[in-house]
Amino acid sequence: MIEAFDVCKSFRSGRGQVAALDHVSITIMKGRLFVVAGRSGSGKTTLLNCIGTLEKPETGRISCAGIDITHLSRRAAAKFRRKQTGFVFQSANLVSYLTVRENIALPLELNAWSNDARNRRVDALLDTVCLRGMGAAMPQELSGGETQRVAFARAIAHQPAILLADEPTASLDSATGRQLIQLMQALVRESACTLIAATHDPDLIAAASETLYLKDGRKVGQL
Ligand SMILES: Nc1ncnc2c1ncn2[C@@H]1O[C@H](COP(=O)(O)OP(=O)(O)OP(=O)(O)O)[C@@H](O)[C@H]1O
Ligand SMILES: [Mg+2]
Repeated sequence: MIEAFDVCKSFRSGRGQVAALDHVSITIMKGRLFVVAGRSGSGKTTLLNCIGTLEKPETGRISCAGIDITHLSRRAAAKFRRKQTGFVFQSANLVSYLTVRENIALPLELNAWSNDARNRRVDALLDTVCLRGMGAAMPQELSGGETQRVAFARAIAHQPAILLADEPTASLDSATGRQLIQLMQALVRESACTLIAATHDPDLIAAASETLYLKDGRKVGQL
């Protein structure tokens, strides 16, 4: 379970102080597809980054399985990210000079999986995302949909408890987007992973177990 209590985060920019998150509290149960929706600039990415320890809230706290993750040391936060989380970013997801196979194997390497276990896992993941035979391809040879499926395979490779996906379907046509949504739903169903996705995509909102609506950093609804 992930709990955020009264989280605030602001940024100073050319426009002055912007409240990206303004007293946001949420509870996300394990094994859910939790969607964060809202217009551009409403704070979705900031919330995902705070949960993933890439940003630190100014006030409030976030706990994961009862452990406060907002006050971890840099080292402990890095370990939390490496072991417990997977990220799918909106774009520039893959390491351009590594093959598809090497990209997917990256979190396994960081978590010191053996060569054998790593190879077996990457083969299984290539099957899961319907890209068998594409392991040797370079990222620039892939279509947008293939790129996002490789990014998804990499994000789940080390079986993280939390998958954070920032507009994972934004650059995809609706059929390819729906295919990725089905993969995400299967993951949540089969591995009890908690998936938190920021999106504008009505198909992804429709697939969610729960949706949080943000406006100007404030929670304006939850369905
Ligand atoms: N590093 C930063 N420096 C200054 N302002 C920032 C920074 N990051 C975010 N902001 C501001 O905080 C607010 C929330 O940004 P955030 O990226 O969380 O929105 P978002 O809902 O993800 O938007 P989008 O749908 O466009 O991705 C915006 O007003 C944004 O300009
Ligand atoms: Mg964003």
